[in-house]
Amino acid sequence: MFYWILFAVMLDYVYFKVKYTTPNGPPVWYVFPFVGAAPIFCLPTFIYKRIYLWYLKYGPDVILTRAPRAVVLTKGSATKAALRNENCQSKPEVYLMTYLGWILTGKDGLVYTDGGQVEWRSHRKIDVAALYALPRREMVVKSSEVVDVFLREIQKHEGEAWDCEHELEVAKYQESANLNLGSCFEDSDIKQFVAIVANVFKKMLVVSIAINIMPRSLIPWVEGLLPKIVRPAHIARVYNEALWVLIQKKLSEKEDNRTRDFLAATLRVKKPAEAHEYLRASSFFLMIGNTHSTHHTILSALTNLALEPAIQDRLYQEIKYVLGHDELTLEHLDSMPLLKAVIMETNRLDSPFPFNLRLSTAPTDILGFPIPAGMPILMFIHAENWNPDHFPQPLSFRPERFIDDQGNYLPNPNHGIFGGGKRECPGKHINITTAGVFLSKILQHYRVEPANINAKPAERISSMFPAPSKIPYRFIRRNKDLPLPLTEPASDLSEIFREVLDRVK
Ligand code: HEM
Repeated sequence: MFYWILFAVMLDYVYFKVKYTTPNGPPVWYVFPFVGAAPIFCLPTFIYKRIYLWYLKYGPDVILTRAPRAVVLTKGSATKAALRNENCQSKPEVYLMTYLGWILTGKDGLVYTDGGQVEWRSHRKIDVAALYALPRREMVVKSSEVVDVFLREIQKHEGEAWDCEHELEVAKYQESANLNLGSCFEDSDIKQFVAIVANVFKKMLVVSIAINIMPRSLIPWVEGLLPKIVRPAHIARVYNEALWVLIQKKLSEKEDNRTRDFLAATLRVKKPAEAHEYLRASSFFLMIGNTHSTHHTILSALTNLALEPAIQDRLYQEIKYVLGHDELTLEHLDSMPLLKAVIMETNRLDSPFPFNLRLSTAPTDILGFPIPAGMPILMFIHAENWNPDHFPQPLSFRPERFIDDQGNYLPNPNHGIFGGGKRECPGKHINITTAGVFLSKILQHYRVEPANINAKPAERISSMFPAPSKIPYRFIRRNKDLPLPLTEPASDLSEIFREVLDRVK
């Protein structure tokens, strides 16, 4: 038996090396038999971290390995070259994303992992138009309404040790609903929804495997056997129907000159049937892209500021000077360079996605190394963001590196967390704007401290999708004479969805 296994491993080794080694091609790393480098991403943090940092420092800029499909890994200048390469503008298909897109839209191919088969420009166009349909000024208003509710949540825990992750996540989901559909859910409904999403995320590995092996046409049949929360075809039907109800409601509302949410913005330029189709197509990123990524930024920024009180004090001075006791507006936000620097420094240190994925759609080359067509390209973003040549003392939180001598915000072209080229993240300004609304309003009213003086940030390198860096915080009210805002956003989405749920059994 042992010799048979050895023989199979040798055969696999020779097959992989012969198939992928080409004259002048990138180094080919076999790593583990049959699965290549994939198990490394599942190692315990303390071992994974060593391998990861070693690779960032000493690994070649381009290698070809397996995970378990053949994949090209890039870092440094190779990543910059790949991002701009015309033949590397597609994204490999990730079944989970295709599946999520299908749940929300009822259609294939409406997510950004196009697999090189769907024309990416058309759905990118829909996503970008959708993300920018709502004027930034209104975005600030809608986001602020939700932060006001979150401030009252903080008030309940004033002065005590509090892990605010769940409440912040709830606030971000409410914000997405408020920005896109113009209203929120009732508190108990959104809390239940967030708990369900967290539960599905925990079971992601099982869900991904099931998706890979089960034909999608079987899903409506299989879902009868599943508990209510994971009935995909049902979710798609409810979402489809609820959008119609919302569109009818918006059309019957009195118009004024302001476009207060994305749905209203869409109805201004599209007929109802088109708007419905468009909303389903773009909903994946509208509702989910904003939530998890920016939740990660806000939580990590609170941790960094709690652990660096001098930086927090400087930021508070900026907020006090610009905002004073006023309600936040877009003009205020755009006049706070240190706030933007804090957000970008947090994103640099604690990115929610330390990797980016592309796909070669034709034979091409990266830094002169020939790359075959159909090759996924996995880019190590930290190789740029943690490079001491671009960011001295790269693992320290130093927002002032993004501030010039005149005190203005200073962009750094090596900040790579949003990707680049034609497919650069179109949500980056939404991330900066909404994180800015949360942080400025929280710090206007509260000082944030670590609940435990020995608190340390969570491990920054933990897996493909690191958890946000969080600690138990203590929120101390700065000025009791400054009352907390009492805004209460509309919460009629619960009633609409409940009514639709009753109808669509
Ligand atoms: C810290 C926050 C975020 C990070 C680190 C991030 C990162 C990324 C990266 C690396 C890509 C791929 C870019 C490339 O291939 O060059 C991407 C794409 C994308 N992101 Fe983000 N993102 C963030 C926030 C957001 C937000 C808030 C939204 C929307 C509300 C969003 C929407 C999108 C969309 C629609 C795409 C696909 C673009 C396409 O298909 O071409 N992202 N993001």
